[in-house]
Amino acid sequence: MTHRVAVVGAGRIGRLHAANLAHVAGLDLGAVADPEPGEGVTVADWRELLDRTDVDAVILGSPSALHAEQVVAFAGAGKHVFCEKPIATDLASADRALAAADAGGIVLQVGYNRRFDRNYAAVREAVASGRVGRPLIVRITARDPEPPSPAYLEGRGPETIFVDTTSHDLDLVRFVTGEDIVEVSARGSALLDTGAPGMVDTAVTTAVTESGTLATIDNTWRSAYGYDQRLEVHGTDGTALAANERRDTTTLADGSGFHIPPPPYFFLDRYAESFVTELESFAAALDGAPVAVTGRDGRTALAAAQAAALSAAESRIVRLDELG
Ligand SMILES: NC(=O)c1ccc[n+]([C@@H]2O[C@H](COP(=O)([O-])OP(=O)(O)OC[C@H]3O[C@@H](n4cnc5c(N)ncnc54)[C@H](O)[C@@H]3O)[C@@H](O)[C@H]2O)c1
Repeated sequence: MTHRVAVVGAGRIGRLHAANLAHVAGLDLGAVADPEPGEGVTVADWRELLDRTDVDAVILGSPSALHAEQVVAFAGAGKHVFCEKPIATDLASADRALAAADAGGIVLQVGYNRRFDRNYAAVREAVASGRVGRPLIVRITARDPEPPSPAYLEGRGPETIFVDTTSHDLDLVRFVTGEDIVEVSARGSALLDTGAPGMVDTAVTTAVTESGTLATIDNTWRSAYGYDQRLEVHGTDGTALAANERRDTTTLADGSGFHIPPPPYFFLDRYAESFVTELESFAAALDGAPVAVTGRDGRTALAAAQAAALSAAESRIVRLDELG
């Protein structure tokens, strides 16, 4: 069955989703809403989409602070929602979004696209099938090549990196271990020139899962050699490792050493395939398949990211059940 989808927010990620719809069977682009006129934008006010009978579902690529309000409104109008991460910027709003999705009986999927990356999916499979034994340590390295623009950071709090960047990795910890996170601790530093004084740009986070597996996540907004994305699960019987993707597999050797191409520059290249696969999964969910990344997953990743931000701000370990 073909579903007509509207994209809300035609920025970096919204434009990508709109373009990807052409490659996803069962989903057709019906409208694009953004207050800023631009290529492909058909509606200025997203509320005009609520009554549109030719729109069955929406993809939210709007600024994070609008997500919860838009989920509530679209769920109330009976439209299915694919919501970019984070699902909300505070837990009370996330709960309102989840309750509205339940009440509306709609499909709600959250955009933790890294779950659809073939490397991380293979690591999860190795863990789930018992190949590495009992998981002891999860190590994630996720370093951006450059900080977000000063315009993007304008008005954002010093904890932005935890919600924008670390939340992806905390979600991956849950994904690869199949366990919930119970406790988080984090340290953050402002070491780069982001144009936003005091903005944390470099962070190290640890998480403890319900069975006691320990995870470490290192994030920074500066990586001189490109987008550095690695993941490892070390268990009692072995280790599953996902290395960086490379442009090609060549090695050039000369007098100064052995040289390999850098990783892809940033997320649009590195995770290109996963952005298509997550929409294929959304299309399947609209036809009745289980939702791969649920509103509850989105809420949990947000809670873990907020716990990390609180931990860094107050220099203490934070249990997730403290946050409610
Ligand atoms: N999954 C990922 O890897 C990933 C990557 C990037 C961004 N994101 C998420 O996607 C969201 C958007 O990020 P971005 O980088 O595309 O930002 P962006 O600033 O490039 O785009 C946001 C767009 O929303 C529009 N907008 C503002 N107010 C609006 C409104 N009321 N209704 C509709 N549109 C409105 C803006 O004009 C802009 O075009 C954020 O929540 C971010 O966390 C996720």
